[in-house]
Amino acid sequence: MRVLLGVTGGIAAYKVALVLRRLAEDGHDVRVIPTAASLNFVGRATWEALSGHPAPTDTFEDVPSVQHVRLGQSADLVLVAPATADFLAAYARGEARDLLGNALLATHAPVLVAPAMHTEMWEHPATQANVATLKARGVHVLDPAVGRLTGADSGPGRLPEPDAIVAAAYAVAEGAGLPSQGPDAGWGDLAGVRVVVTAGGTREPIDPVRYLGNRSSGHQGFAIAEAARERGAEVTVVAANVSLPVSEGVNRIDVSTGTELAHAIETVEDECDVLVMAAAVADFAPAQRSDHKIKKAGNGGLTLELVPTEDLLRGLVERGTVPVVVGFAAETGDDAASAAEHAAAKARRKGAALLVFNEVGTTKGFGDVPNSVRILDAAGAEVAAASGSKLAVAHAVLDAIASLGTIRKSV
Ligand code: CTP
Repeated sequence: MRVLLGVTGGIAAYKVALVLRRLAEDGHDVRVIPTAASLNFVGRATWEALSGHPAPTDTFEDVPSVQHVRLGQSADLVLVAPATADFLAAYARGEARDLLGNALLATHAPVLVAPAMHTEMWEHPATQANVATLKARGVHVLDPAVGRLTGADSGPGRLPEPDAIVAAAYAVAEGAGLPSQGPDAGWGDLAGVRVVVTAGGTREPIDPVRYLGNRSSGHQGFAIAEAARERGAEVTVVAANVSLPVSEGVNRIDVSTGTELAHAIETVEDECDVLVMAAAVADFAPAQRSDHKIKKAGNGGLTLELVPTEDLLRGLVERGTVPVVVGFAAETGDDAASAAEHAAAKARRKGAALLVFNEVGTTKGFGDVPNSVRILDAAGAEVAAASGSKLAVAHAVLDAIASLGTIRKSV
């Protein structure tokens, strides 16, 4: 098949070199038209070497072959990736201001565009109106993936991974329309990654009606699960006493005690690429659990003997089965040290790849309220900080995980 590949001026252009390579390896004849702005990101030599053809930009190059018409007329498929907001606006207006604009007006081939830009630009009403215009004309527009963007931020606007673009290109060329663009389609930056998130707070029974517990609601852990799913991961939540529903597509294992939490982790540990220990695990459990309700009558007071529970996070780090383990620490300051100093010492002691620390008080941090965290590495140094909704904080935690380097993909 003859593919016309338009490349416009966005940083994601570098990923499109892999798209071109895949198409060429599959035996297709690909002609690349980079816009002038795109050459700031990837040079012409890359496109010419990978396609084996000249990669013209300007309408007035090679005029005798009338290529501004010929390239569009002879294509079986036109793919524009990445498509910038400016390109979408020009294409929606039918502008022929450069060779790519001319070729698009001269083609009868199906056209697939893969937008990539910052979330604000993608969500802007002008961009959305341009996308609607193009779709109404029969242009296939890929939804951008959710994930890490160029700066420290994340959200919808990422160019889907090269394999997903190639799959969409083949589907469009065959007249099958766009394939599913959900989290299963290799869309986000965590596509193929198995993520396990523990959430909520464990309860250690004292008797059949009482327990030792904590105030963790599970909101932050559930938000991390939701964000990881949005970014394409296969996600399992181990929920310790959480009354919230999980978001669509997230697997759920319910547990109550620390021992049940430990067993649940064991069942998923071998196939887990990233484990986020957001659950608040009780540090102590009653030495004995009474089989009957402890009566008040006759008891002047009650002394409970408590024994320490197993440190699950430390055990996970020591076993080393899971490539990336992330801990949480809700800290308060005291006479010995500030909350931040306690957190840094905990990061070094626990040895997890990252430790997400937030300062809590009686009114701070719990429930469906905004959160504010600092993310520390295993040496206790701060690598990122985030405040905002629990979903925004969740994305910041996933950004920090993505910044650790290549993540194993087990799916
Ligand atoms: N954690 C765990 N197992 C425990 C206790 C905690 O896996 N028995 C994990 C939590 O899920 C969290 C991290 O360890 O990710 C930090 O929990 P925290 O209670 O703050 O740590 P502790 O080691 O118990 O330290 P502290 O003495 O401050 O309570």
